[in-house]
Amino acid sequence: MTTSSNKTVTAVAHTNIALIKYWGKQDSELIIPYTSSLSLTLDQFYTQTSVQFNANLSEDRITIDDHVVTGTGSKRVHDFLELVRQESGLNLSAEVNSTNHVPTAAGLASSASAFAALAAAASKAAGMNLSLTDLSRLARRGSGSACRSIFGGFVEWQKGFDDASSFAVPIETRHLNDIRIVALTVEKHQKPVSSRKGMAFSVKTSPYYPTWIKVVDADLANIKAAIKDNDFTRFGTISELNAMRMHALTLSADPDFLYFTGDTLVAMNEVKRLRHSGIECYYTIDAGPNIKIICQQANVKVITDTFSTLFGPTKVTVAKPGPGVKYL
Ligand code: PMV
Repeated sequence: MTTSSNKTVTAVAHTNIALIKYWGKQDSELIIPYTSSLSLTLDQFYTQTSVQFNANLSEDRITIDDHVVTGTGSKRVHDFLELVRQESGLNLSAEVNSTNHVPTAAGLASSASAFAALAAAASKAAGMNLSLTDLSRLARRGSGSACRSIFGGFVEWQKGFDDASSFAVPIETRHLNDIRIVALTVEKHQKPVSSRKGMAFSVKTSPYYPTWIKVVDADLANIKAAIKDNDFTRFGTISELNAMRMHALTLSADPDFLYFTGDTLVAMNEVKRLRHSGIECYYTIDAGPNIKIICQQANVKVITDTFSTLFGPTKVTVAKPGPGVKYL
């Protein structure tokens, strides 16, 4: 067993937004999903993380956004470091320093970029030289959606059936590169039900869950065809539909739960109104009340102007396709 390493490694990973959602695990220990999913990595929002394994430390020291975190706040990071120690054979505590560059107005979850950056920095600092596929498998163990943030642009997480076969792959395309995501924050408060709990509860209690598994296969095949054909209309239509199908699983859970607020509905209606008036845009919504508007560069101004008037300019952030994980 290796007992020494003092290399500090810094990695940067960008967050991603799922257009075909991941919602439910077949194996919650290994994080193997029931369905494959598809996302777009975003340029604006990223996490930078440095890791050093250090013989002088008696326990992991974790700093996030300049605050030392302990107890339950650091448990997921600590558990992830345990996994890296197990896989690398390195038996040292780590110093972790992580900064999230996610505008507070964006309302985007940072767990995808956070665990992708941590997987990259920690594995390299522990002396592992992982391929991008193996890095994606490792990031998946921290947070499912993190496996997609290893790659830039459009990315598919192929569900697989075990630890070795469940990982993300980039979708090589020059199409739809003028796509933009307008992130709109209608609510800053913490989501009432975490995605982890929400998906487990949907799997367990929604009678529609078996149908979700079937429709996702079709949605995924259709969206990949839309990307291949450079067909933004089909791309946006399928994305919006798939998001609503995911939220139908929360509405049909027992007891039901809902991530939307009144303002979410106002924003959804506004997207539809714009669309019917000829400004092509669609929405997608994750496990929270904030909405992400999918559009093309040509319509960014009118969309941001409209939502800035409705909700205030500080609530609106525009993102483009972003890169995969990098080392500094
Ligand atoms: O990776 P998690 O556990 O944060 O779950 C992500 C769930 C959704 O954001 C709602 C969907 C997705 O595919 O990212």
